[in-house]
Amino acid sequence: MRLNRFLARSGVASRRKSDELILAGAVRVNGEVMVELGCTVAVDEDRVEVGGRRVCLPAGFEYILLYKPHGCLVTRHDTHGRPTVFDQIDVLRPGTVAVGRLDQDTTGVLLLTDDGDLAFRLLHPSRQVEKRYEALVAGKPDATDLITLRKGVELDDGPTAPAQVRLRGGDEHEARLEISIHEGRKRQVRRMCSAVGHPVKRLKRITFAGLGVSGLKPGQWRRLTPEEVRALRTRAGLGGGA
Ligand code: URA
Repeated sequence: MRLNRFLARSGVASRRKSDELILAGAVRVNGEVMVELGCTVAVDEDRVEVGGRRVCLPAGFEYILLYKPHGCLVTRHDTHGRPTVFDQIDVLRPGTVAVGRLDQDTTGVLLLTDDGDLAFRLLHPSRQVEKRYEALVAGKPDATDLITLRKGVELDDGPTAPAQVRLRGGDEHEARLEISIHEGRKRQVRRMCSAVGHPVKRLKRITFAGLGVSGLKPGQWRRLTPEEVRALRTRAGLGGGA
């Protein structure tokens, strides 16, 4: 692992600040001052010290909640060099995955973790994890549209399961819908709204498994609290410990 990443993941400083510490000669690897940017360490073997104090990677899994901003992709690497959610967070461990996907233009709650078991279970259809969205749609859905959305919409990959749908306001030009689904099909909310003649203009995931983005601005992230991790793991049928 690159030394600056090791330092960031150990909670010493961001990767950029870690580079500054390295250049300032504050970092030793196996007793030797390391001033070379881009050098790597063997995480299980090398002894890394900053200012004379040993630094270690944290034990256990990482659970991160990102307020995904508009315009970035949920992918590790984009062949066209576009920004990804993985660029937003400089402490991510190599095995970290996004728990589900959001479209490039969708904002809101995105969980990232290296707890693969939890990610797999939260995404499994049998778990019925709730995802709640706020959609700004073109035009104003009428009562029939709302009933259709609630009961299930016929899409090209089959009908959608029943959903909770509330009209939160609007006029004849555009309206705000709150839509809660338990499935996770590709572009599902956009396709549901288009199917009833009201294409989505803006989409935000306001909660995932009950977790929201309050206190965060787009692009900001935080670690889940131990209580939140316990609740998620219980929700996923894994028991509370990580
Ligand atoms: N449904 C969509 O259409 N897009 C998303 O990003 C998430 C759910």
